[in-house]
Amino acid sequence: MELCVALDLPTKEENLELVKKIKEYDVWLKVGFRSYIRDGAEFLKDIKKINPDFKIFLDLKLYDIPNTMADAAESIMGLDIDMFNIHASAGVKAMKTVMQRLSIYEKRPIVLAVTALTSFNEEDFTKVYEKSIVEKANQFAKDAYESGLDGVVCSAYESESIKNSTSKNFMTLTPGIRPFGEDAGDQERVADIAYVQSALVDFIVVGRPIYKSENPAEVVKKILEKI
Ligand code: C5P
Repeated sequence: MELCVALDLPTKEENLELVKKIKEYDVWLKVGFRSYIRDGAEFLKDIKKINPDFKIFLDLKLYDIPNTMADAAESIMGLDIDMFNIHASAGVKAMKTVMQRLSIYEKRPIVLAVTALTSFNEEDFTKVYEKSIVEKANQFAKDAYESGLDGVVCSAYESESIKNSTSKNFMTLTPGIRPFGEDAGDQERVADIAYVQSALVDFIVVGRPIYKSENPAEVVKKILEKI
């Protein structure tokens, strides 16, 4: 299992301070909308300057028509990142078009599909997708698997059933992790390390338990010792 640290601090400087504090650890760094829109590709370069071995997950959750998504994926190829994601709800055609476009490259980033956003509760989710979260997340995962993607973003509680209905090698990345039972904040369904290990999760995303801590490096070290 790999640890992915969410760089969710309000400014580029604060994010880079955090990166410096944890630079000796073998972790992935998650760059999301806010920092990518504001700080751009330069921010990715700044991270690599601190430690070129950091792996970067660009969490932009692409959603558009197939050709536009494939064009965006091709632009991402120029960014020297290691993983990015697209929405499974964009459809099988979109996912296949993205993977086909990337197939010409000898080496490409890991591509994950977002299944159900964890911010949805059951009622709101059903209004949009007309199925329960579990049912639809599993369907999206199957679609992503059949479209040639490498894995999905899902809740820890869906990881095992998704692996059972696709493949053990189909990766799961799960946010909402409170490694040692820390405060859940606004997350509805949180899981700890013992749970994600039993659910065969491949990547855990951890934000606040690390960056809100007085000693982020110590928390990262403790997590890495456990996983
Ligand atoms: O601070 P915390 O550990 O809750 O951060 C979780 C990170 O994972 C945040 O960057 C959040 O945007 C992201 N995320 C999530 N739920 C999803 C997708 C992404 O919490 N379904």
